[in-house]
Amino acid sequence: MSKYRNHHSASIESKYDPIEIANDRKNVMTNFFIKISSTMKVLFVSPEVSPLVRTGGLGDVVGSLPIAIKELGIDVRILCPLHRECKALKTIFFPKTGTVRLGKDKIPVRIGETTLGPSGIPVYLIENDSLFDRSGIYADSDGDYPDNPTRAFVLSKSALLISQITGWSPDVYHAHDWMAASLPAYLNSTRPKAKRAKAGKSVLTIHNLEHQGHCSFQDFVRSGLPESFWGIDGFESNGSMNLLKGGIQHADKITTVSPTYAQEIRTKQFGHGLEESLTYRGADLLGILNGIDEASWNPQKDPALPCPINPDSPQSGKDACKESLLSEMRLPATSDAPLFGVVSRLYRQKGLDLLIECLPSLMSESKANFVILGSGAKEEENAFRELAGKFPDRIGVFIGFDDGLARRIFAGSDFFLMPSRFEPCGLAQLYAMRYGSLPIARKTGGLADTINHFSRSTGTANGFLFKKPQPKSLKMVIHRAIKLFGNPAQFSKIRMNALNSPCSWDNAAKRYAEVYEWTMKFHGEEKQGPDRRA
Ligand code: GLC
Repeated sequence: MSKYRNHHSASIESKYDPIEIANDRKNVMTNFFIKISSTMKVLFVSPEVSPLVRTGGLGDVVGSLPIAIKELGIDVRILCPLHRECKALKTIFFPKTGTVRLGKDKIPVRIGETTLGPSGIPVYLIENDSLFDRSGIYADSDGDYPDNPTRAFVLSKSALLISQITGWSPDVYHAHDWMAASLPAYLNSTRPKAKRAKAGKSVLTIHNLEHQGHCSFQDFVRSGLPESFWGIDGFESNGSMNLLKGGIQHADKITTVSPTYAQEIRTKQFGHGLEESLTYRGADLLGILNGIDEASWNPQKDPALPCPINPDSPQSGKDACKESLLSEMRLPATSDAPLFGVVSRLYRQKGLDLLIECLPSLMSESKANFVILGSGAKEEENAFRELAGKFPDRIGVFIGFDDGLARRIFAGSDFFLMPSRFEPCGLAQLYAMRYGSLPIARKTGGLADTINHFSRSTGTANGFLFKKPQPKSLKMVIHRAIKLFGNPAQFSKIRMNALNSPCSWDNAAKRYAEVYEWTMKFHGEEKQGPDRRA
C-alpha cells in the first residue's frame, strides 16, 4: 500500500467507524461541517430510477437520494436508459445525437430529458430502442438478456457523451451497481495524462455484491476498453470478465449501502469472490447507510392506506389498518392475535425458506397470523401457496407485486419479517418501522445498523435481531415477539421507538457530499496503486 493510500485510509476510517455511524444513525444526528464546492456537479448513472422505472431498492435509492443531495446545493442529475416503461414520459430530446464507440462498433444514441417528479432534478434518458425498448430491464421470461454486457457498456459510456450533447459537464460520475460499473474504467481510459487533475472523478456504489455482471473475454474485447484493463488489477476474474470487479479496481471511491456491509464484504463469507479486490481497495471503500423518501412513505398521508396512522398516537390507525388488511387477505378479524407481515422477493438471499420451515409448527404453538406478499423462486412461491391452502384462516398469501398492498402490510401488521442471509442495507425494515410494524431480522448488513434488538429493557429497542440463519433461531425470535405482543405497555413503547427511528436521507447526503469532495481533492498524478490508465 502506498503512503498516500494509508494516509487517506486513516482519514476515512477515523470518520467512518461503522459502530460510530450506526450509533449516530440510531440516536441523534451529529453536526457535519462540510464545505461544498459551490460549482459541484454530480451525475448519477444507473439502470433504474424510481418512480420512472424500478425493480427494487436500487431504483428507490437513485430516485430519492439525489433530492437530499440537491438540498445541499449540489447540481445533481441522473442518467438512465430509456426503457420501455419510460416511453410514455414527457421527454425532450437534445438535437445533437451521439455515438457510443465500443471497439469497432458504433452505437447511435439520443439523449432525452425529463425530470424527477417535483424535485425538478433533470433525468437524462439514453434512447437506443434495439438495446433498451424491451419488456424487462435486465431479463424477460426467457432469462437474462444475452447482450446485457453491451447494454451495460452503452449505459456506462454514454455518461461520457453527456457533456458534449447537453453542454453540462459533471465533476463527479456516480455509478450504481454492475450495469454502470464500467464507467470508472471508461473515464480512466480517456483521462489524458496532462489533464488528469481536471478530469471527472468517479464513485461506484455497490447495492448488492451478489450481482456482478459476469461475462466473457469476448465481451471485454467488445467493450473497447484498453487491453491493459484486463488482468488481476482490472476486469479479469478467473479467466472471464467481471464488470463489478473492474469498477471496484477503477473507481476513485467505492461506497456501499451500510457500514456493516462495508465490513462484511471484505470477508470470504460475504465477499462473493470479490473480497480480495475490496480489501485491496479498502482505503477507498466505505459504507453509508441508506435513507428513505419520507414524503412518499408517510403513514399520515399515504393514499394506499384505509386509514392514516399518526406516529404520535398510532393505536387507532394501526387497529383500523390491521382490521382492513385481515379482511383484504381473507383472514378472520382476530385483532388480539399478533399479525406478522412479509413483503419480499423470494430468493435465497431473503431467507424466507427459514420461515417456510417453521410456519407449520408456529401454527400449532401460537395464535399468530401471517400475511405474505412476494414473488421469485417457484419453489418458495409454491410452498407459501400450499401453506395458505393448509391454514386458510391463519396465513394469507399474495404471489406477485402490488405496491398498495405492500404499504397496507407495513401499516396493518404488528411485526415485519426479514430473515435475510445477507442484506446490504434493506429498505423494507425502514418502511415497516415508519408504518409502526416492528422488524424481526437477521443481524447482518444494514439490518444490524438500523434495528436495535429488544431483549429486556425497552430503551431504544425498535425490533428484534437473530444471528444464525436457521429456522429454529427465527422461530425463537418470533416467539419472543409474540410474548412482547402479550404485554401491551412494552409493545407500544417499542412501537413508538420504531415510529421515531431516523430514516431520512439527510445524513447520508452529507456523507456522499464528503465523498465527492474527497474525489475532487485528489488528482490523478498523486494516485498510487495499480496503473488504472491506458
Ligand atoms: C439492493 C440491496 C438492498 C438495498 C438496496 C438499495 O436491493 O439488496 O439491501 O437496500 O439495494 O441500496
